[in-house]
Amino acid sequence: MGLAQPAFYMFKCEQSAPPGMPKPSCVSPQTQDLFGYLAQSLMQKGIMGTVQPIRTACLSRCDAGPVMLVEPGHTMYVSLTKEKIDRIIDEHIIGGNVVDEYVIDSELWDEPIAAATMQEQMKR
Ligand code: FES
Repeated sequence: MGLAQPAFYMFKCEQSAPPGMPKPSCVSPQTQDLFGYLAQSLMQKGIMGTVQPIRTACLSRCDAGPVMLVEPGHTMYVSLTKEKIDRIIDEHIIGGNVVDEYVIDSELWDEPIAAATMQEQMKR
């Protein structure tokens, strides 16, 4: 039997804007401990490894931050707090049910465009 691949990846945006920058960002003094909280929670629940938390740069949904993308499933969670992370782990990651009330608005997260389709559009 081979080395098991993770069941989930949790891509937490860790981008912070430089001081004085008007653009919103996912990491501020108020939210800078969310990744640590996520990792600690996964360890405490004994699921670190089959769930892989990953620090990522900007996911281009800054106005809705702090954001986190869960794969598989392309599920984008927004306005994260520690309480929301707890529910996402318990209900989505362990329970198998997306926490719909924390998911990004569909206006900001429409269907993906296939790479081949985008290439075709660029040629026109
Ligand atoms: S800074 Fe997090 S999505 Fe842009």
